[in-house]
Amino acid sequence: MFDFAGKKVFITGGTRGIGLCVAVKMAKAGADVAVNYLRNRSAADEARAAILDASGGKEPLLLKGNVAKDEDIQKMFSEIGDKWGGLNFLISNAASGVLKPSRELTHHHWQWTMDINAYALLPLSRHAIPLMKGNGRIIAVSSLGSIRAFQNYAAVGASKGALESLVRHLCVEYASQGINVNAVSASVVDTDALKHFPNREAMIEESLQWMPAKKLVTPENVADAVMLMCSEYTSMVHGHTFIVDGGLSIMLPG
Ligand SMILES: NC(=O)c1ccc[n+]([C@@H]2O[C@H](COP(=O)([O-])OP(=O)(O)OC[C@H]3O[C@@H](n4cnc5c(N)ncnc54)[C@H](OP(=O)(O)O)[C@@H]3O)[C@@H](O)[C@H]2O)c1
Repeated sequence: MFDFAGKKVFITGGTRGIGLCVAVKMAKAGADVAVNYLRNRSAADEARAAILDASGGKEPLLLKGNVAKDEDIQKMFSEIGDKWGGLNFLISNAASGVLKPSRELTHHHWQWTMDINAYALLPLSRHAIPLMKGNGRIIAVSSLGSIRAFQNYAAVGASKGALESLVRHLCVEYASQGINVNAVSASVVDTDALKHFPNREAMIEESLQWMPAKKLVTPENVADAVMLMCSEYTSMVHGHTFIVDGGLSIMLPG
């Protein structure tokens, strides 16, 4: 459905889960793909193989770095600049966070979560925008915790709220320069990330109970939304959060 031949995309956290799914779809659609990761080299190698396969042999850029660190972002973009000289799509997808009740959250937990999930979009977009040369898309991947509340999700939910607000403010600054900044948000998706939730089973069960569509959102569903937000079909969509949740967020559990 999408033809992104000749386009260049950088996906943070692009070696596992939703980010990898976006990377593979982008490669299939003909884009040149750069994926970032932090620690897991074997997942990065597997991602490389999957992207190579999807693209028919086009080598992806594998960029190791912490998106919470300015110097790592600087290094990754200098490699993108050297190798590609331009960029069309930035997908700010990498996330982490401390999953604890609010009474157990320390300042360090808060800062860690905010830096990776919200702050990173600032330096990422600051480096990406000059490479986009007046025509680009920035998509931040968010979650329903930005607008709804869940057990153990105070820090991550707050970081996603900040992220979506930042998306709106970046939009105001860059829409007139040909850059669309939007978010794609999702309800529970059963990736590795979910294994870290102390209440994983309950989250899945409750989602299925209340969700009108009665099935979990998949990484493919989220990746499809990201593809759409990078396409010409959404050229006048600016500053919004596109929610992929099987209708969950319109329901009132009780
Ligand atoms: N899973 C869900 O239920 C769900 C629901 C809604 C929204 N989301 C959002 O979707 C996005 C992807 O989630 P996911 O579930 O696909 O995650 P995941 O499977 O846990 O994958 C996380 C990816 O991010 C990378 N990463 C983590 N911290 C990083 C950092 N500080 N710097 C650079 N890379 C880092 C990981 O690299 P390593 O492999 O090296 O660790 C990995 O590639 C996140 O923004 C998340 O909030 C997820």
